[in-house]
Amino acid sequence: MQAFRPAVVVAIAALGVAVAAAQDSKEDKGEALQNSACLSCHDIRPIQTAAYDRAGWTNVIDSMIQKGADVKDPDKPALVDYLFRNHGPLPDGPGKAILLNTCTLCHDLGRVRAHTVSRDEWQETLEAMLNEGAMLSDQDFPVLLNYLARNFK
Ligand code: HEC
Ligand code: HEC
Repeated sequence: MQAFRPAVVVAIAALGVAVAAAQDSKEDKGEALQNSACLSCHDIRPIQTAAYDRAGWTNVIDSMIQKGADVKDPDKPALVDYLFRNHGPLPDGPGKAILLNTCTLCHDLGRVRAHTVSRDEWQETLEAMLNEGAMLSDQDFPVLLNYLARNFK
């Protein structure tokens, strides 16, 4: 009996996992491609601090292939899709570079994109991030606050 029970637990868990896996498999494939093809020459920072549309990411991948990145043609769409969804374009303007450089160190920009609040609440969020340890200078604070309050409200 003891050998049987874990198998039942695993089978039940696998049902739930299978449903989630169907949704996540595209995401997982793109992430696996990134991890195997994009992190050997540099770490993830250049990817985290870029924000491109599909055409932009396609150009980056082509230029990285020229440098030596190993991405097979049939894998390109999944990788472009993954990079676009996780590192898609941001509105231009003062504050964009601060956001990319300062706010991607502890979590990705998904957190920021999902946070659409008033200016006062953005101010509170930025103060909370300073308490968490974000390296946001007094000079950059109002520039970033304006950018976030304008674009993520
Ligand atoms: C063979 C080494 C190598 C591999 C593998 C590689 N890169 Fe790069 N990457 C570089 C070098 C060198 C630079 C800096 C020179 C430059 O900016 O073009 C760079 C810069 C970048 C930049 C910043 C410049 C820009 O165009 O925005 C991004 C983004 C980037 N890489 C993404 C990727 C992605 C995505 C992959 C996987 C498909 C990848 N890299 C794989 C060598 C590589
Ligand atoms: C030193 C690490 C760190 C840095 C850098 C950082 N954060 Fe955070 N951030 C956190 C942590 C930890 C949480 C989760 C806090 C929580 O859930 O209570 C968080 C959560 C958030 C949230 C979600 C808040 C909510 O109420 O749901 C937003 C939005 C956010 N950060 C924005 C930013 C912005 C904008 C920057 C750039 C100024 C930034 N973060 C930089 C650590 C950081």
